[in-house]
Amino acid sequence: MKILRFTDLCAQGKVTGQRVFIRADLNVPQDDAGNITEDTRIRASVPCIRLALESGAAVMVTSHLGRPTEGQFKPEDSLAPVARRLGELLGREVPLVSNWVDGVEVQAGQVVLLENCRLNKGEKKNDEALSRKLAALTDIYVNDAFGTAHRAEATTYGIAQFAKIACAGPLLAAEIDAITKALAQPKRPLAAIVAGSKVSTKLTILKSLADKVDQLVVGGGIANTFMLASGLKIGKSLAEPDLIDEAKAVIEAMRARGAGVPIPVDVVTAKTFAADAAATIKAADEVADDDLILDIGPKTAELLAAQLREAGTIVWNGPVGVFEFDAFANGTKVIAQAIAESKAFSIAGGGDTLAAIAKYGIEDKVGYISTGGGAFLEVLEGKKLPAFEILEKRAA
Ligand code: 3PG
Repeated sequence: MKILRFTDLCAQGKVTGQRVFIRADLNVPQDDAGNITEDTRIRASVPCIRLALESGAAVMVTSHLGRPTEGQFKPEDSLAPVARRLGELLGREVPLVSNWVDGVEVQAGQVVLLENCRLNKGEKKNDEALSRKLAALTDIYVNDAFGTAHRAEATTYGIAQFAKIACAGPLLAAEIDAITKALAQPKRPLAAIVAGSKVSTKLTILKSLADKVDQLVVGGGIANTFMLASGLKIGKSLAEPDLIDEAKAVIEAMRARGAGVPIPVDVVTAKTFAADAAATIKAADEVADDDLILDIGPKTAELLAAQLREAGTIVWNGPVGVFEFDAFANGTKVIAQAIAESKAFSIAGGGDTLAAIAKYGIEDKVGYISTGGGAFLEVLEGKKLPAFEILEKRAA
């Protein structure tokens, strides 16, 4: 993907004294009192801001927070807590500026945070008049917000159309590079793990990956539907029987390419969905009518782990069992450890996947951990993200 990179502009000395507008994704979770409960996205946004400051730019940063109603400010929609945390991380005060669309005062070597961009009327609809106003605020527009790259809004798309220069920040560029390495030019075999409760929410991903990958490992409720499609009984387990034909089509598409969807050979079952429920390991063809499948069995986990250790590239989205309950965590743990031990380039994304990575402490052993939620899923669906599309256009 040919895009202009902010790091290159900085290295070429083109940023000094320029007004730089950075669209970051600082949409972090907060508790009821407004305290930030998880700040990964803020920390991930710091390198771009620091680079802009060190390059002598006048720096404006903005982000959305939640989904506020445009034009109606409510205190809980404010980026004030984010400004404080950003200030701590940068080791300097970060003033928060409200009502900024018509002009922002900022000097070279300074940084200001522009209040929640989704409060501006026209942001969501990518309004042209608003986009032109935003573009007029800056010399260089930097999109560093992978988490919002699947949205065509005024700060993610329109401004990139009209700004003098539009480029990708280091975080967005790293995501693009990792995605390209994993999906566009993968070292084979390419294995994908797609797990989660429902086939329906990930059907497009499964279909898209069935054209690309060498192994499509399914887990969770998705695996249950695939077991049904393979003629196995799953008792009371979560599944979508109406999607059996879709699952069969995915299996067939993979088979036609000489690839496969490994179906579990054993499973871990319980009679109730509870942390203290008794766990029983069973062969996949011995599931009783009142059983709930809550994890893949140890034999299946080992078979998959062996494949993952041999993979050239691994894409991971979703834990394969109810890993929050220790008795049903083994499958996800074995998969996580196999990814950590594999020489393959691995990319992982999605809230549950990140929680599993943290639980098993393999952060440093995953090739790339995506900051995107919905954006990462849309990449796996094979969609071209609007933010990538406009930056490519501007670089042409
Ligand atoms: C996210 O949390 O996935 C991103 O910040 C995008 O948020 P949105 O779904 O409200 O656009």
